[in-house]
Amino acid sequence: MSSVERPELAAVPETALWTLWQRAVEARRPDAVLRDPKAVDLVERIDYPFAERFGTSGLQSHLQALRVGCFDREVADFLAREPRGTVVCLGEGLETQYWRVDNGRAHWLSVDLPDMVALRERVLPPGPRRRCLAADATDLGWADEVDRDRAVLVTAQGLCMYLPPARVKALIAGCADRFPGGSMVVDAVPRWFARLTVSGRMRTAAYQVPVMPWAMDAGERDGLRTASPAVTAVRDVRPTGGRGLLGALLPLALTVPPLAAHRPSVTVLNFAEGPDRGAGSR
Ligand SMILES: C[S@@+](CC[C@H](N)C(=O)[O-])C[C@H]1O[C@@H](n2cnc3c(N)ncnc32)[C@H](O)[C@@H]1O
Repeated sequence: MSSVERPELAAVPETALWTLWQRAVEARRPDAVLRDPKAVDLVERIDYPFAERFGTSGLQSHLQALRVGCFDREVADFLAREPRGTVVCLGEGLETQYWRVDNGRAHWLSVDLPDMVALRERVLPPGPRRRCLAADATDLGWADEVDRDRAVLVTAQGLCMYLPPARVKALIAGCADRFPGGSMVVDAVPRWFARLTVSGRMRTAAYQVPVMPWAMDAGERDGLRTASPAVTAVRDVRPTGGRGLLGALLPLALTVPPLAAHRPSVTVLNFAEGPDRGAGSR
């Protein structure tokens, strides 16, 4: 398989190489909690000093894989209910979720910034049911590209922390408005973590994590309802299946109050039904 010369990306799009690397590190383990051979293949094909820049922390890759597993479960559940539905992946970067959970019938729309889409299209060329759109996810023009006769699930995995808070709220409200009866999956870093990025302390010798302007403690999740009256339900998605010590401690981190309220989170938002979405696509 051909290799791709070193991508030149701005700091925020470059974070998609970080998440790709973490999935690949995890997927290479014999006891991996995430099967992702496509991610392993990509890090071998892209000319980039992944290990030198991002390190090889087993803890980071394990945690990242558990977060990804939350999104995979939600997408797989959606496709079980709506096999011909559309999954819109905002800020998809080099995610390889399609190769992990596609059902052979769903449609996929990937929305990311132009430089990232150019890279994605080179290493993961689009297919008949899988399109890419170079756009700012917060502008919502991409919503016109989505077939309203199909059920829609919007994912924003690893995106919202890089957006100004008002844009996160407007994005959720815009999706609720445009996709009646649809849902959205959003993850968030806790406030203490975002503060470390703002103060520049989230760094290693070779890599500085970009500033994260939006954060939400897990205990604040219900506040997402204020984005729009069309947000009818808010649900926590909890990681499952961790291994070793982390796997043993995870239930505590998810339930013991101070830890549970200030942990990273994945949340599903349901949107109010509209009067006229067809059911013909199911
Ligand atoms: C941390 S990466 C996450 C990539 C992928 N979702 C994953 O989890 O591996 C953040 C991604 O969001 C994209 N992004 C940041 N701001 C964006 C915006 N305003 N519109 C669309 N994409 C954006 C970046 O280009 C990058 O691909």
